[in-house]
Amino acid sequence: MTKSQIADITWKDSGVPVAARFDDPYFSLEDGLAETRHVFLVGNHLPARFVPGFHVAELGFGTGLNMLATFLAWRAEGAPANVRYTSFEAFPMTAQDIAKALDTFPEAKTVSAPFLSAWAEGARRFDLDGFSVAVVEGDARQTLTNWQGRADAWFLDGFSPAKNPELWGEELMKQVGAHTAPGGTFATYTAAGFVRRALYAAGFDVERTPGFGRKRHMSRGTLRD
Ligand SMILES: C[S@@+](CC[C@H](N)C(=O)[O-])C[C@H]1O[C@@H](n2cnc3c(N)ncnc32)[C@H](O)[C@@H]1O
Repeated sequence: MTKSQIADITWKDSGVPVAARFDDPYFSLEDGLAETRHVFLVGNHLPARFVPGFHVAELGFGTGLNMLATFLAWRAEGAPANVRYTSFEAFPMTAQDIAKALDTFPEAKTVSAPFLSAWAEGARRFDLDGFSVAVVEGDARQTLTNWQGRADAWFLDGFSPAKNPELWGEELMKQVGAHTAPGGTFATYTAAGFVRRALYAAGFDVERTPGFGRKRHMSRGTLRD
């Protein structure tokens, strides 16, 4: 594991956390939970694709909001067994900052307590009623290469490609493709051309679909046969 540094956070008046290192918010200033559902869940055709053993992977764990939204969707779908969520994070937030960030989302807060107490104890692998979470600390450019898993659905959630280009590069997208199961998908809020080209080169058919809120477009795709 590469060494991680704790995230340095500033706060918008609305309660949205902003990463000082990247000068970018962790989620939409409009409604982060609605954005997660639109971009990452609908973009990957979830929860309909959940089956026992399904594996979601994410670049950028941040506040865990995407993970909790996925957990809620999985539970609403009847909680198929052994669903896994693996996320890659270089700058983990403290449990206090995560709790403060999740304060704005009453729905996520109803299920956040077991996650927050595991996180505060330093656990980076924990089980939420049969939904298994693993957060791999370190720079994803190294940790993903070493990962032995393959995901059925990817959430590509780095900060904006302009501010966090290292999480959207061609080599890393190639690793995303190499760590995707047959028929697997990705979704991301960005429609930046260089990201879409890198994902195509990594083996995905890429489409541009309507974005969340004021964003005109997002991207989603499926691994080619
Ligand atoms: C937009 S935020 C993710 C929001 C998150 N998915 C959530 O639900 O709150 C982007 C995340 O990517 C992480 N990140 C940035 N560069 C990284 C890198 N090279 N490797 C791994 N994680 C990185 C940041 O620390 C941050 O937590």
